[in-house]
Amino acid sequence: MGEHKKMSEIVVQIDGKEVKAMEGQTVLEAAQSADIFIPTLCFHEKLEPYGACRICTVEVEVRGWSKLVAACLYPVEQDLVVKTRSEKVDRIRKMILEFLLAHAPNSHQLLDLAQEYGADKDRFEKESSFCILCGLCVRYCAEVKKKNAVGFVDCGARREIRFIPEIAAKECVNCKECFPLCPTSYLQAAFVLTESLAFSRDASHDVP
Ligand code: SF4
Ligand code: FES
Repeated sequence: MGEHKKMSEIVVQIDGKEVKAMEGQTVLEAAQSADIFIPTLCFHEKLEPYGACRICTVEVEVRGWSKLVAACLYPVEQDLVVKTRSEKVDRIRKMILEFLLAHAPNSHQLLDLAQEYGADKDRFEKESSFCILCGLCVRYCAEVKKKNAVGFVDCGARREIRFIPEIAAKECVNCKECFPLCPTSYLQAAFVLTESLAFSRDASHDVP
């Protein structure tokens, strides 16, 4: 026997439909392979799953027990029963959207989802940040481009993205591949980049 275990095919049930999946796949991957839609905000097929936004929450039933899990992280197993919509699922997605809309009230992606789940965009007090900390730009730059030109700074409520001026000045101008990944605002991401570059230019002028 080789060292590597052969991946076996298993069958799961998603929204009442039998779906063939490979051991090691996530619920999200299995659903996508069967054209079953699960909303995502921090998932990208080229990146390691991150599990930050939780909008992909689904209800799974394992050996008679049901629980809410993040579809982008949860691995499939034989006879798993998945509901991509249920009262509990919809309630949690609605709450997540109301919370995220406080940070990014103009995001078309969030507003479309809010309509679907009946989320009130004004439920929580607005906090001035367009970033919902999905990490797509940061992880794409690190994992795909291997440049680390953008990262998170600060923590808690003050956490935000920042381009690293020395790297951004060389790498970002001709790349910008992270902008369209942003679920909230392409333009804001561009603004943050421009600001970082302007800051680096000003700082270099200050050097005697
Ligand atoms: S700027 Fe956009 S892509 Fe980057 S972490 Fe924030 S929401 Fe996500
Ligand atoms: S897409 Fe699963 S947690 Fe964001």
